[in-house]
Amino acid sequence: MKFLVAAFAALAAQNVSSFSPSATVGRRMATSIRMAETALTQDELKKMVGYKAVDDYVKSGMVVGLGTGSTAYFAVERLGQKLESGELKDIVAIPTSVRTKEQAESLKIPLVTLDTHSKLDVAIDGADEVDPDLNLVKGGGGALLREKMVEVCADKFIVIVDESKLCDGLGPGFPLPVEITPFCHEHTIRTIAALPSCAGCDAILRMGSSSSNKPDGDEIAITDNGNYIVDLHFKEAIKDAPTMASELKNTVGVVDHGLFCGMTTAVIIAGSDGISVKEA
Ligand code: 5RP
Repeated sequence: MKFLVAAFAALAAQNVSSFSPSATVGRRMATSIRMAETALTQDELKKMVGYKAVDDYVKSGMVVGLGTGSTAYFAVERLGQKLESGELKDIVAIPTSVRTKEQAESLKIPLVTLDTHSKLDVAIDGADEVDPDLNLVKGGGGALLREKMVEVCADKFIVIVDESKLCDGLGPGFPLPVEITPFCHEHTIRTIAALPSCAGCDAILRMGSSSSNKPDGDEIAITDNGNYIVDLHFKEAIKDAPTMASELKNTVGVVDHGLFCGMTTAVIIAGSDGISVKEA
């Protein structure tokens, strides 16, 4: 289903200075796309898909998973707006990171956890890469474990991206994050690099902030769960993502990895000719 969104021009004309400075801006080249005779920034595109996901998939009474990152930020913002206005009622949400929890709390979104709500109606999140089968790389922002735990419990998992995230094959365009235990992490990193499915990758321990795979400090990055992240850099596309996912998951010392295979319900994509929705 592909359709132009009439609201593009109006949204583009809104004051964008209220946009959150993205922690990951600069991770990718900022793109400027001309639509409806108005040049849209990457943040404007993210806002459109974030708002559309909430408008189209969230109804009163739902349990909603809230993703992490500069795109998911806008979905959380929209949910907060609609609860404040009364357009949505009786929503409870489950955040996938400390920073999403803090944003949701600031917007007075009622929060629960998986401990009390194991079944979600919908989860909305960004992604670092999306392949033609809607398999994902996630975890560029360091939240992959909580994201996967929450999103795997959702009846619908809605992914929101701008078109820069689409790829023919996962891997070479964005390093694959793997969350590992601090205990003997050098051993675990060697074990991962020796997996048949990971042959040829450069496995690099994330340094500085856990929310970016660009080294920005001298200390090892620590996730919300107290673990480390190793980013796997591939020169070629991953040939068999499900096999790699299984080999990584079966490696002792690996907590989880950023391959999200077979989880996506739909991807909402903001691109040069409008917003499109690709369903699994
Ligand atoms: C965080 C994630 C994010 O969803 C992913 O990194 C995309 O982030 P952004 O929308 O900022 O590009 O997986 O762990």
